[in-house]
Amino acid sequence: MNNNTFIHKYIRPLINKEDIVVDMTAGNGNDTFFLAQYAKKVYAFDISEEAIRRSKVRCRDHDNISFICDNHINIDHYINEKIRLFIFNLGYLPSSDETRITQADETLTAFDKAYSLLKEKGYIVITFYIGHPGGKDEYYLLKDHINKNRLHIIEAYHQDKIDSPITYFIRKT
Ligand SMILES: C[S@@+](CC[C@H](N)C(=O)[O-])C[C@H]1O[C@@H](n2cnc3c(N)ncnc32)[C@H](O)[C@@H]1O
Repeated sequence: MNNNTFIHKYIRPLINKEDIVVDMTAGNGNDTFFLAQYAKKVYAFDISEEAIRRSKVRCRDHDNISFICDNHINIDHYINEKIRLFIFNLGYLPSSDETRITQADETLTAFDKAYSLLKEKGYIVITFYIGHPGGKDEYYLLKDHINKNRLHIIEAYHQDKIDSPITYFIRKT
């Protein structure tokens, strides 16, 4: 099973129509589309105008999404309510500008801001592309941070192939 299929199956029972959730990297809109079906409201961030355009097309049948074209480190400029679940699907927009890839230091900042906006018993789902340029450094920085802060990883998913993505499911205690 690929990571995205696993992630969606895992998330499905964790959210319902009372929940507010955030896609921190909308990309092609696949995760936003998935979340919009089951949550009350979705905030969808992406730094790329092309990604926001693609996501709006993908999600055109849903009216419960706020699209935000900005760096996700600025999340606190847009959200001041408690969130049930965040999803980070790191890396770059497929078939686009591969230089606008997530940066480890920004991901760390965005992760901490997300964690502070998270409800008790809320979730952060974060996928690292360790085969991308800088992807391993990003993974090790975040992994170290998660361990040092004793955050609770309830599940980790990694296919048994070299450099395949790694997903952590974290629950706020
Ligand atoms: C792998 S894609 C996301 C795929 C997406 N979740 C989907 O379902 O199609 C990663 C996205 O992160 C975006 N991105 C990179 N750095 C960012 C940042 N600092 N803030 C917000 N988005 C960023 C890229 O523009 C790209 O669209």
